[in-house]
Amino acid sequence: MSDYLDRIGAGLVIEHTEYFSFDYIPSELVGRDKEITNLASMMRGVFENNSSGRAIITGRVGSGKTAMTRRFCTDVEKKFAEKKSIKAIHINCRNVTTKPQVFQHLIKTFDERHPERGLGSGELLRSIRRLMRNENTHFIVVLDEVDHLLRRSGDDVLYQLLRIDEGEKTQGTLSLILISQENVLNVLESAVISRFGRSNHLRLAPYNEEGLYNIAKQRAELALVPGSYSDEILQLIAESSSSNGDARLAIELLEASAKRCENAGRKEITIKDVNAVSSTQPQVMVDGAAIETLPLHSMIAFLAICRRLNKASQIVTGDVEKLYRVVCEEYEVKPRGHTTLWKYLKMMVKCNFVMSRYTALEGGRGRTQYFSMPHALPSDVAKRLELLIPAIIRNNSKK
Ligand SMILES: Nc1ncnc2c1ncn2[C@@H]1O[C@H](COP(=O)(O)OP(=O)(O)OP(=O)(O)O)[C@@H](O)[C@H]1O
Ligand SMILES: [Mg+2]
Repeated sequence: MSDYLDRIGAGLVIEHTEYFSFDYIPSELVGRDKEITNLASMMRGVFENNSSGRAIITGRVGSGKTAMTRRFCTDVEKKFAEKKSIKAIHINCRNVTTKPQVFQHLIKTFDERHPERGLGSGELLRSIRRLMRNENTHFIVVLDEVDHLLRRSGDDVLYQLLRIDEGEKTQGTLSLILISQENVLNVLESAVISRFGRSNHLRLAPYNEEGLYNIAKQRAELALVPGSYSDEILQLIAESSSSNGDARLAIELLEASAKRCENAGRKEITIKDVNAVSSTQPQVMVDGAAIETLPLHSMIAFLAICRRLNKASQIVTGDVEKLYRVVCEEYEVKPRGHTTLWKYLKMMVKCNFVMSRYTALEGGRGRTQYFSMPHALPSDVAKRLELLIPAIIRNNSKK
């Protein structure tokens, strides 16, 4: 009866699941020597006396921004342990989007029981100063996915953190690293980049097929039973994930293929395993980078669709066009013609943002096209678009 349990975790293919875990950071990042050296050079203030460093890291989804920063922080914490106490605090700003939340988060790393509410950000900042000074430690504060924070609350929090030593005898308490997906920061916050200094901006290029192959190989060597995968399998995984250059996708494909093989009671991953799991991966993450790369009017049409799909399961083409015009009016932009809008809709379908379906009209008078959105919550996407659209319009009007 319970034979199936013998196959799961039997170690036929996966020997060490921990290397597939979300938290695992490889001790050597594959093919990023130059980039991590650049980061260290931007952050050299961290290991000197009375100084600090700042850096902005941008790159597409899965280009290794988080992994590289964590690697760097852990390496400096260890390497300089005898000379200087260094501690990194990594904050993911997806859910920490206001100044008080950032400050609360920092305080919690010193004092778990610090009261949640009731303090204004001025008081919180004073507490942070006091707590940080008491520790006699240099802090590297990493604000990951910082675009969420910048959009919601502006950049004031960054400058307050950078000025933490103002008026104090000793300097160099805090260094700051900002991380964001490339296009988001470029569109919205080029002012932040220029105030940080362009030479402190590290751009990570997406991985090419060879880079992804090497990353998949490293993970396979760590996690899988020797002999359970071939070079051909790794090549195919690299190829399947190369359109986005996303290392996370390559690693997920490797893990999913290994699981599929193991679940079937086999010992060697086949091409069929990889193809089966690749075909179930959505091509583009709706919540990822791609949404930001859409042209402005495509975003407006998308917002129109999302608003209707908040209340209905599908929307017909004619209504998309009507609602698109309403949204154009709302943002005071001139709507594009029917043919252009049509082109944008086709592109959204191709990218898997929306799905389309045709139904024959009653009496055989042609067909109607319906759109639906099975891959994401329309309200979430709408929220994101409502932030992006005005920012792009503002940016365009500055040009
Ligand atoms: N050079 C590399 N060598 C080995 N593993 C890597 C490398 N780059 C990325 N990875 C792995 O790929 C996955 C995705 O990387 P990471 O989370 O750092 O991407 P990211 O750029 O922060 O993406 P996002 O924009 O979605 O936050 C992680 O599991 C990470 O360990
Ligand atoms: Mg990340």
